[in-house]
Amino acid sequence: RAVSLDELTELCVRRGFFYPTGKIYGGLSGFYDYGPLGVDLMRNILNDWWWFFVEKREDIYGIYGSIITHPRTWEASGHVESFIDYIVTCKRCGAEYRADHLLEDLGIKVVDYSIESLKKLIHENNIRCPLCGGELTDPRTFNLMFATALGPKKDPPFTVYLRPETAQLIFVNFKNIVFTMGATLPFGIAQYGKAFRNEISPRNFLFRLREFIQMEIEYFVNPRKLDECPYFDSIRHLKINLLTAEDQEKGTDSAKKITIGDAVQNGLIGSKWHAYWIAESLKWLWRIGLSPDNLRVREHVKTELAHYAVQTFDIEYYFPFMGWKEIEGISNRGDYDLRRHQEFSGESLHIVDGDEKVIPYVIEPSFGLERVILALLTEAYVKEEKRVYLKIKPSIAPFKAAIFPLVKRDNIDVLAREIYEELREHIRVYYDEDGSIGKRYAKADEVGVPYCITVDGQSLEDGTVTVRYRDTRQQERVHREKLLEFLSLKTRP
Ligand code: GAP
Repeated sequence: RAVSLDELTELCVRRGFFYPTGKIYGGLSGFYDYGPLGVDLMRNILNDWWWFFVEKREDIYGIYGSIITHPRTWEASGHVESFIDYIVTCKRCGAEYRADHLLEDLGIKVVDYSIESLKKLIHENNIRCPLCGGELTDPRTFNLMFATALGPKKDPPFTVYLRPETAQLIFVNFKNIVFTMGATLPFGIAQYGKAFRNEISPRNFLFRLREFIQMEIEYFVNPRKLDECPYFDSIRHLKINLLTAEDQEKGTDSAKKITIGDAVQNGLIGSKWHAYWIAESLKWLWRIGLSPDNLRVREHVKTELAHYAVQTFDIEYYFPFMGWKEIEGISNRGDYDLRRHQEFSGESLHIVDGDEKVIPYVIEPSFGLERVILALLTEAYVKEEKRVYLKIKPSIAPFKAAIFPLVKRDNIDVLAREIYEELREHIRVYYDEDGSIGKRYAKADEVGVPYCITVDGQSLEDGTVTVRYRDTRQQERVHREKLLEFLSLKTRP
């Protein structure tokens, strides 16, 4: 049976993955704190993403930009003017709703996201306030950026913004990377970090937050060389589940299986570089443990496209409690951002490519960490007759092993503690001697510990311990001197 969102939330809060922020004051909608288990999971995913997309490549440079940057950035990027959602308010009780979410919650399919179409759907379906039945206002725009005042000057204040996407810090550093690192096209810049959006209706636990972590790459390509991708042959045979904008406009909601090569040849994905980044993204999501059947690639319909986008595909995950939902966006942003920053700053943002001077096009794979975590936990949650366990890949699991003395006497606990202290110098493990061994196994299973190591009477005699496998519950005896090698091999990516 598939996990429910309530079960997942309950487990995450009870076992220290996430806590609603400011809970002692009643919490704050759209904000969660990472707990001890969550922060280890987060670090493992971030490190794997950084390794896969930055360290093991020679064409990607990393940066770590500031959260607050020069406010002109957001005028140039178009966010001050266009980073909006449509909001409706109840004329009677004042409740506020994001127009498209309200319609979708009431089972009305939205294909056209324009303000006129949302207004029409609300009128045609005679939508009233779900809370009090009151009449709703027409949809109006609502900017999602959080603003704050910089410095002591109050009148007029110097307004700055918390970044709503990490991407812009990459664009405004483009020239720095070219000059300091000698980057030449094609190349990318990667960054992870916090992003902030004043979402009208944050919900579904980690899915729609007001503060979250993005992992983004901007990959710069000569606009005339969007089909000159040297890696294309290595991914052309990869099969993906693709749902095109055209199919959605015809009313279809099911994806078709197609190879990347055919999708490009048939003009469904605009360029080889765009297709390549879709493929790399999928490979990474598979690698960390999401199943290909639960992932699909959905193209944005025209009215859904962000103000900067030429073409966008979302990678969606099938959440049994919400259906298909976006966990990553992969956009072709054209030269929109660099051109706008050039115009607003007066600095040239060209790059020399051979004997041409170009403003590159950008392909942008943009992951939301919390959505990836929600998908991973959904996929990993297994409920058997007598136990719940998280089948997380050992390399991603917060703890790689737990060490238990079978009983707390006869020097068994002393030896168990000694083994724990040796291992923890090298690998993320914990020690637990409380309660029955069954309860300790159950607690470890629930947070996805892949190996439980039990020290017993025999360990004192021959130096072997029991290693129990989380998924199969099978046990084998391993000599304590071989434990580190055993765990290192079993838990590496
Ligand atoms: N730079 C491009 C960009 O920001 P986006 O589709 O708005 O594109 C990228 O966001 C990713 O960030 C999404 O696929 C999602 O995983 C994550 N994300 C966006 N809004 C979010 C929110 N309110 N809560 C959690 N994650 C969010």
